[in-house]
Amino acid sequence: MTVFRGSVLHFLDDPGETDDPTAWELFEDGALVVDDEGKVVFAGHAWAVPSRLRTGAVTVDHQGYLIVPGFVDTHVHVSEADIIASYGEQLLQWLQRYAFPAEARFGDPAYARAMCAFALERMLAAGTTTASVHTSLHPGSVDAFFEQAQQRNLRMLGGKVLMDRESTTPDYLRDDSVQAAETQTRELIDRWHGRGRLGYSISPRLALTCTEDMLTMVARLHRERPDVWIQTHAAENPQEIAQVREIYGGRSYIDVYDRFGLLTDKSLFAHCVHIDDADRARMAATGSSIAFCPDSNMFLGSGLFDIEAAWRQGVTVGLGSDIAGGTSYSQLYQLNHAYKVAQLRGGRLSAYRGFYLATLGGARALRLDEHIGSFRPGKEADFTVLDFTATPVLAHRTEAADTFTERLFALMVLGDEQAVAATYVLGRPAYERSRTRCGHRP
Ligand code: GUN
Ligand code: ZN
Repeated sequence: MTVFRGSVLHFLDDPGETDDPTAWELFEDGALVVDDEGKVVFAGHAWAVPSRLRTGAVTVDHQGYLIVPGFVDTHVHVSEADIIASYGEQLLQWLQRYAFPAEARFGDPAYARAMCAFALERMLAAGTTTASVHTSLHPGSVDAFFEQAQQRNLRMLGGKVLMDRESTTPDYLRDDSVQAAETQTRELIDRWHGRGRLGYSISPRLALTCTEDMLTMVARLHRERPDVWIQTHAAENPQEIAQVREIYGGRSYIDVYDRFGLLTDKSLFAHCVHIDDADRARMAATGSSIAFCPDSNMFLGSGLFDIEAAWRQGVTVGLGSDIAGGTSYSQLYQLNHAYKVAQLRGGRLSAYRGFYLATLGGARALRLDEHIGSFRPGKEADFTVLDFTATPVLAHRTEAADTFTERLFALMVLGDEQAVAATYVLGRPAYERSRTRCGHRP
């Protein structure tokens, strides 16, 4: 048994537009107790830890820091780690010029392994313990990713990218045939899905780079294996949307996926910047989720996602970095951008709703909330320890704040991976910020 002392914050539900305080628990002088299997047994006030749990327990002192559930990155490309911050293009040109060539390099298993290790280490350093990951077209990239995730005991979703449409994919990065892609996907599902903490996501890249036959295959495979996930991109960029309309017709981009039977309660659609009420209603009715990637949407000039409309219509939304459309692995950095996107739309995103979004909200979007996302007893103890004094500016703002709510908002807007003091996976240390860079404490 291990008792982690510190301020503890976690969410039981979405705080909603009014910041309903029954949606979260905050224990400023708190304790999180984790058993030897890595499961949460208690989260509450330090004084309330039952003596039977204290007896013989090891205590880890994070007093002065904030312990929150590990962040959930609902959309990230590990194959794009080395093109982060690539200049000057919007989506379709950016894919051709930067993303596809980078992804082609994943054909080399040793390279793929090194890149997956790099990406997972950057996620842990940013406090992210679960992600929904696009690897690359190559089946070996999935092996590389899941091997690295398994070595670190992480709860991760991922899958081989599917892309077979000749007119929109380069010769060097295209599935040979739908049948070959199906065989590879089936083999990968058999090899990895449900192994330890890993789950498989069938990953058609986007309608534009897939043929009708590929989308039909995905739907058929998912009907056979409704326990696996589906992840793809949708309605990100106006030029992309126009091309999808030319190829598929239909009422909307979401409607295309709907026609192929791809809207399910295990489906995750990245972006959905340009969708309407009818799309949102179908997504809510089918239990489909959205990965909101605010930094990527700004970097690629895609547009401003309407999170409030999605929430109002009952669509489950998670937060995503979309590396390398996005420029940071930090979900705090993503929240900073999410807040600004909400402002530009005339809305807002409170600190409580933001931290919900990055933790339990993400877990719900990935249908993993029975395992992760909060500190309810029995859940897996993946968590991160945040430092309100990580930088001089954050420390100064924290010092000047009157309330916890103000401090939390400052952390959400000013924090990034520098604010992560430590990250734990199943109650064991997975990342510790180097002591030489340890904040700006006196
Ligand atoms: N749509 C299809 N592929 C991608 C990708 O790699 N990044 C982003 N941002 N959008 C996509
Ligand atoms: Zn993406």
